[in-house]
Amino acid sequence: MTESTEHGTPLAVALVGCGIIGLNHAKAIGLHPDAVIVALVDEIPQAARALADSIEEAGSARPAEFTTLSAALASVSVDLVVVCTPSGQHVQLAQEAISAGKLVLIEKPLDVTVPRAKRIAALAAEAEADGLVVSVISQHRFDPASVVIADAIESDGFGRVTSAVASVAWWRSQEYYDSGQWRGTWELDGGGAVMNQGVHTVDLLLWFLGRPVEIQAHTALLAHGRVEVEDVAVATVRFESGALAVLHATTAAFPGLSVRLQVHGSRGSAIIEDDQLEFFHVAGDDSGSVANQAAGVVAPSELRGGERDPDRFAIGHLRQYEDVVAAIREGRPPRVRVDDALLALAVVRSLYLSSTLGRSVSLAEVLDGSLDDVTVTTGGAA
Ligand SMILES: NC(=O)c1ccc[n+]([C@@H]2O[C@H](COP(=O)([O-])OP(=O)(O)OC[C@H]3O[C@@H](n4cnc5c(N)ncnc54)[C@H](O)[C@@H]3O)[C@@H](O)[C@H]2O)c1
Repeated sequence: MTESTEHGTPLAVALVGCGIIGLNHAKAIGLHPDAVIVALVDEIPQAARALADSIEEAGSARPAEFTTLSAALASVSVDLVVVCTPSGQHVQLAQEAISAGKLVLIEKPLDVTVPRAKRIAALAAEAEADGLVVSVISQHRFDPASVVIADAIESDGFGRVTSAVASVAWWRSQEYYDSGQWRGTWELDGGGAVMNQGVHTVDLLLWFLGRPVEIQAHTALLAHGRVEVEDVAVATVRFESGALAVLHATTAAFPGLSVRLQVHGSRGSAIIEDDQLEFFHVAGDDSGSVANQAAGVVAPSELRGGERDPDRFAIGHLRQYEDVVAAIREGRPPRVRVDDALLALAVVRSLYLSSTLGRSVSLAEVLDGSLDDVTVTTGGAA
């Protein structure tokens, strides 16, 4: 246990990677009373400086700036290391932080390869046994709409969960892919519409439907250039429970539509559209209503509030920080475990392997390393 966790001063945070999501973390941490950024790390000094400027302008103390995590850990007292670098570097930095005895929060996805992800899962398990918290960002698990559905499934409100339909229909411009050398590469992005944009929805699917056993998929690159990975993917997923799901993820749906997730069961169903609960019906409600809000099952203000809040994106991360900080303070595991993120990553990899091999792939063969030597490829226009 670190000094500040013992003495009740705010957790000292080192933020590694000061790009787009780093800024969002800085906003979320700025809203949390029990955490403060003391160090900013970016291999591009101007990126750390710009973020330090904005933190100072927002009225908080200016953090120290570093170009490597090791330099930061050698100079400043840090409790929690937050990893916000390109995806293919997550495990390497998280490993360094765990080895230094730090608490760790890793941006999604856990990393881009299953062998590396398994390594960090093993290290995280050891760290947890020593009382350290290691978690992975999956902020949509904290959306009120997601929590209502997970609770309903847990309490059998949907009866037997039978199926789900998930669609991420977004648009990313060519400029987006050109904006960072790591974007759209297998090595550092680890994939496209599913690995980068769709992994949140994959994670919710697993949270709601349980452990998958088999995935069949197709991917294609149809609307972008200078990109190695897919901008369209479709898949079917069979779960251990017998439930079936359809997944669609694209960054080629101009002008960018919604993220939609439908969950169906023998006694109820729910639909989330852009993080909001659009439909909710559980066992015992015979009204056939659009939602059980009138019965007090969900609070509309909580579910629909804040849609136009410019900091709404940071609020999602803040909700997860509330859990992570509470887990640290209470000495309990965080709600999102490294093993949850490993499973989501393994499903994304299964999807790519299925598309590459032209056959269905079992989660077991992805997790046991049988397919580690396969080089994944992206399908294209016929
Ligand atoms: N949770 C979410 O909703 C969400 C949203 C966007 C991005 N992300 C994730 O956050 C990560 C970063 O994405 P981004 O859009 O902020 O990328 P970005 O390119 O805007 O920022 C990454 C930053 O990391 C820095 N960096 C690279 N290697 C480094 C190293 N070894 N040490 C220190 N700094 C290093 C880069 O210089 C850059 O400033 C990705 O894994 C992405 O999937 C999550």
